[in-house]
Amino acid sequence: MKTLLCKDDYLAEIDRTRDRRMAWWREARFGMFIHFGLYSQLGRHEWAMAHENYPIEEYERLADTFKPQPGAAREWAKLAKRAGMKYMVMTTRHHEGFSLWDSKVNPYNSVNRGPQRDLVREFVDACREFDLRIGFYSSLMDWHHPDGGRCAYDTEARLRFNRYIEALNTELLSNYGKIDILWYDVAWPIEHWEGWNSLEMNQRLRALQPDIIINNRSHLPEDFSTPEEHVTATQRDWEACMTFNGISWGYVDSEQARAYSYNAPRILRMLHTCCQQGGNLLLNIGPRPDGSVPEEVIAPLHAVGDWIKVHERSVYGQLTRMERRHPTGGCDMVRAGNRIFLWYWIWPESGSFYLGGFMNKPRTIKFAATGAPIDFTHDGRRLHLRDMPVEPVDQTAGVTVLELVFDEEPRFIHANRFPQLHGGKTY
Ligand code: GLC
Repeated sequence: MKTLLCKDDYLAEIDRTRDRRMAWWREARFGMFIHFGLYSQLGRHEWAMAHENYPIEEYERLADTFKPQPGAAREWAKLAKRAGMKYMVMTTRHHEGFSLWDSKVNPYNSVNRGPQRDLVREFVDACREFDLRIGFYSSLMDWHHPDGGRCAYDTEARLRFNRYIEALNTELLSNYGKIDILWYDVAWPIEHWEGWNSLEMNQRLRALQPDIIINNRSHLPEDFSTPEEHVTATQRDWEACMTFNGISWGYVDSEQARAYSYNAPRILRMLHTCCQQGGNLLLNIGPRPDGSVPEEVIAPLHAVGDWIKVHERSVYGQLTRMERRHPTGGCDMVRAGNRIFLWYWIWPESGSFYLGGFMNKPRTIKFAATGAPIDFTHDGRRLHLRDMPVEPVDQTAGVTVLELVFDEEPRFIHANRFPQLHGGKTY
């Protein structure tokens, strides 16, 4: 192991290597989050052990009734691929402290107990079968380990717990081949990187997987920020992690929760913000206790995947980050160099579209999915598209995309409604 770096040198080192390590991630755009664990059997949220104040001995019984079907991870990966997702992140051990792999560090695991299988191995094999990049979620918080709470006030307990957490992650990054993402969660009850020994731990873990990217939840900034349950851009690389229903990461057995599940247009709205503003969307599913995929997520993900298939150019790859700009209330933009893609949420039924704010004229305008040309005029401040269909052309998810191709950089401004406030300058 090479000499460990001080914090400033470490941060400078990962800044220096980030573009190379993140290149695939920045073009991938869309991933699947999987929350699966003992809590899935309760069907009442992944925090049920805490919410319902389970004594450890009582909660541990779930470890012997947990019997996911073989092939479950393959179903998840197959669905992720069909949905147009490029990577997956699975909970290898959630706050409940149960390891889903053949751990020699944590005997409370899926080989010793109920499943009697290495579920992480199955997940990794499934990701590779479907050519998906691989992420491991690893909670720092642990409600099962005797030092999980004591580490907050007892130095010996904290040092033991630091070693335990690092040993778990060392197993994960040593025994399953190339892993692409380490996704920490909930660095609590210790509230600073020194207390987690994150600086040393993450250097040693990076030495095991030199190309790995790490999120910002071990109290060090690492490689990307993680807005949760809101799709909000940050200046640095960012990935919005979202439940499928706005309520729970783990499986919830409730008709009401199922009714809240997102449909394809709603998912595309989230994905659009990521495409427009330089981020990624990590959309979660919480499999049922047997590992099967909840019915309510299948049709929306199929529709999203079918939609992406014909709109890849405005979803994946190197898009040009921009602020939110929409020339009408019913659509919003994604930019790729000199091309602007207008994703229409509300398709005007007038057959005649006015798009304000385009100050230079595009060479062509067409339907992005088919390339069919659109007749238009430009009066120096807005575009007028004529003879448009009165129905949305896209029937997969109801989101029709127009493509504007410019010969030079598109110049778009929001129309200035109060020229008197800007020295009389109107545009
Ligand atoms: C929150 C929840 C945790 C979930 C995570 C996903 O930290 O506490 O249960 O796994 O969000 O980002």
